Amino acid sequence: MKKVEIHPDAVEKVKKFTITDPQLGFGKYVAPIMVQALYDHGDWQRFDLLPYGPLQLDPCTKVLHYGQEIFEGMKVFRHPDERIFMFRPEMNARRFNHSARRMAMPEIPEDLFLESCETMSAYCKNIVPRRLGESLYLRPFMIATEVGLGIKPAKQFLFIIVASPSGSYFAGDSVKVYIERDEIRCAPGGVGSAKTGGNYAASLNSYTKTIKLGCDQTMWLDSQEHKYIEEMSGMNFFAVINGKLVTPSLTDTILDGVTRKSVIDIARSENIQVEERKISVDELLKLISEGKCTEAFVCGTAAVIAPIASFMDKDLSVHRLKEPAGKIAMQMREKLIAIQAGRTEAPEGWLYPIKDIKF
Ligand code: COI
Repeated sequence: MKKVEIHPDAVEKVKKFTITDPQLGFGKYVAPIMVQALYDHGDWQRFDLLPYGPLQLDPCTKVLHYGQEIFEGMKVFRHPDERIFMFRPEMNARRFNHSARRMAMPEIPEDLFLESCETMSAYCKNIVPRRLGESLYLRPFMIATEVGLGIKPAKQFLFIIVASPSGSYFAGDSVKVYIERDEIRCAPGGVGSAKTGGNYAASLNSYTKTIKLGCDQTMWLDSQEHKYIEEMSGMNFFAVINGKLVTPSLTDTILDGVTRKSVIDIARSENIQVEERKISVDELLKLISEGKCTEAFVCGTAAVIAPIASFMDKDLSVHRLKEPAGKIAMQMREKLIAIQAGRTEAPEGWLYPIKDIKF
C-alpha cells in the first residue's frame, strides 16, 4: 500500500492557518494544504501532502481542451468529544471509480482513495468547524495532464484533494426551482451519472436564466420527452406525495447521490414509505394543485437537505408548495445532521473515524 508522503512545509502552513470569519459560506475558504498524486506509466506513482498552490499546466494539456475530469464532494464532521469523522466515504470512493471508468480515466484503489482523504482530514483537524451545520468539505478530483491535441484518452493524470471549511450552501431557508423544459443536462448513454465537470458546465446557461427569473435551482427533465424529473445538477430531488417520499429512480442520466441514499435509508428506518419511480413534472404540478404533494426538497452533500418553496414553469407560472418547510423534509434534515455531527447514534458504517495525528 502506498503511503502519503508528508511534506514538512505543508504541516507548517496548516498549523498557522486560522479563519476568523463567522460566515463560512460554501467553498469560500480553502485549507492551505492539498494531497496530490501522479498517475503515469500505467500506475499511481506517489501521493504527497503539499502546501496548497497553483498548478502549472502546459496550454495543450488535454483536460483544458477535452474536459477529461472527474470529482467528488464529501464532508468531515467534528463531534462534541472533538473526534472527527468522514461521512460514508466508501460511497464516494466507489462513485469516483464509476466516474473514472465512464471518462476513460484510471481508477484509484478504494483503500488509496480513503487513505488520501483520511490523511488530508487528519492534517486539517484544527480547521474542521465546530458549529452544528458546518463541516470540512473535501473535494477530491482528477484531471488528464498529458499534453497533446489528439483526441484520445490521456495516459497521465493528477489526483488532487483540496478542502474547504464550509457552512450552508444556500443563503436562504428554502429554494425556488425553475423547471427547464428546453435545454437538457445529459442524455441516455451519456455521462450524466458520472461526476464530471462537463455536466455542471452544461447546466450553467440555464442557471443564469434561473437566477434572472428570481429562482435558485434548475430542475432538469429527461432528454427524450422533456417530461420526467431527473435532478438539479448538484442535488437530487424528493417530493412528499400522499405522505410517501417519492424520488426519481436512478438511471444513467442521474447522479447516484450519497445524501439521496442516506435520506432513503433514514426514511425507511423511521417507517416512512419511499418510492423510487419516474415522476413527470406535470404529474407533480397537478398533485401540488390538488394538495396531494405538500412538500418537496433537494438534497446533496453540499446542499444537505433544503426544502423547496415553489416551482416556476416555462410560462412563468409559479406553483407554491403548501408546506415550504415541510415536516418530513425537516425531520430528514434534523436526523441527518444529528447523525453526521454525532448528536445521535449513526447507522453501522456511516461514520469513518479519522486517526488523530500529532503534529
Ligand atoms: C456536492 O454536493 O458535493 C456537489 O458536488 C455539488 C456542487 C453543486 C457543490
